[in-house]
Amino acid sequence: MGEFLKVIGLMSGTSLDGVDAALLDTDGEDNVCPGPSLTVLYDVATRDQLRSALETALGMEKGADVPPSILEAERVLTKVHAGAVKALLEKTGLTAGDIDLIGFHGQTILHRPQQGWTLQIGDGALLARLTGIDVVNDFRSADVAAGGQGAPLMPLYHIALARQSAQASPLVLTNIGGVAQVTYMDGDTVIAFDTGPGNAPIDDWMQRHTGKPVDIDGAFARSGTVHEAVLARMLDNPFFARVPPKSLDRMDFGMEAVEGLAAADGVATLAAFTAASIAKARDHFPRVAAGWIVTGGGRHNAFLMEQLKARVGAPVLKTEDVAWDGDAMEAEGFAYLAARSRNGLPLSLPTTTGVKTPMTGGQFWKA
Ligand SMILES: Nc1ncnc2c1ncn2[C@@H]1O[C@H](COP(=O)(O)OP(=O)(O)O)[C@@H](O)[C@H]1O
Ligand SMILES: [Mg+2]
Repeated sequence: MGEFLKVIGLMSGTSLDGVDAALLDTDGEDNVCPGPSLTVLYDVATRDQLRSALETALGMEKGADVPPSILEAERVLTKVHAGAVKALLEKTGLTAGDIDLIGFHGQTILHRPQQGWTLQIGDGALLARLTGIDVVNDFRSADVAAGGQGAPLMPLYHIALARQSAQASPLVLTNIGGVAQVTYMDGDTVIAFDTGPGNAPIDDWMQRHTGKPVDIDGAFARSGTVHEAVLARMLDNPFFARVPPKSLDRMDFGMEAVEGLAAADGVATLAAFTAASIAKARDHFPRVAAGWIVTGGGRHNAFLMEQLKARVGAPVLKTEDVAWDGDAMEAEGFAYLAARSRNGLPLSLPTTTGVKTPMTGGQFWKA
């Protein structure tokens, strides 16, 4: 058994909504004990700065220097993460000396595994200095350099959680963040991949048409109509038939297909597309799942959840139904992977990222 560590995990997902921070006690193996968590939302200026870093990154060539505007975004981002650590310590009554390690995912601003290239910003040395706690970051590069997709990275944590629960097999855990993923678990079999868009196109559409970043509870989508012919065209995309492993950049699926629809119809159709493309993941599962559990911010979108339930053909639960924390799960997962990194354990498998052999990773920064 590996050493038991008290770890803070930090995640800023592709939705660009904020930083999730969570405490986890773990040996990096079967023992996982999630603790308190919180989210620090980005202010509008930071969110815009990150969004423009993503846009700048679209024009980057592999091997080129990172532009100064992106380095500036990295400094800002790292400081927000240090603030999230401080807030979590205050919330839990712990001090930096009580924490063994931080797992710092950072912000993915570019993900091109087919070019052997993925880029997360987040300054590990600076975070270690600001918090006084050892840091592990850069979880994806080693996997991508070894020919893997570098994503999804949550499956090993999903397996650890599932081992502690009494859910029937096969079990599917789907995370609806900016992009959506599935982890299919059945005994020793695990299959994981990105399924398509998650909330990102919904959020982008909302921002453009209503000036608000989120369709709260899916209320605006509910006032619109799903355009079935448009949806069918969107689903007619070779990505969905591609055999996993496979992963996506946030920008791979946009809003183009619904351009011209009324605002509410557009968001309804985008939400239906997210749900339908998650349901299509079933084409790649060896057996019919006994149940699905939904994690990530998309589970708060009631319209999206209804669309998913209608298309999946198996019971669909939310994380809260099984006493898991769907807002903190990815942060917990990066705490778990940081502990695995310190204990020399793999972060990814051939059936999760397509890497040839189970792969270690992460970069260590001493406080
Ligand atoms: N009450 C809500 N109603 C609808 N959508 C929500 C709600 N709360 C969160 N979301 C969606 O979830 C997203 C955040 O999800 P999250 O799991 O943090 O994704 P990521 O990992 O990409 O950051 C928001 O951008 C929004 O689209
Ligand atoms: Mg988020």
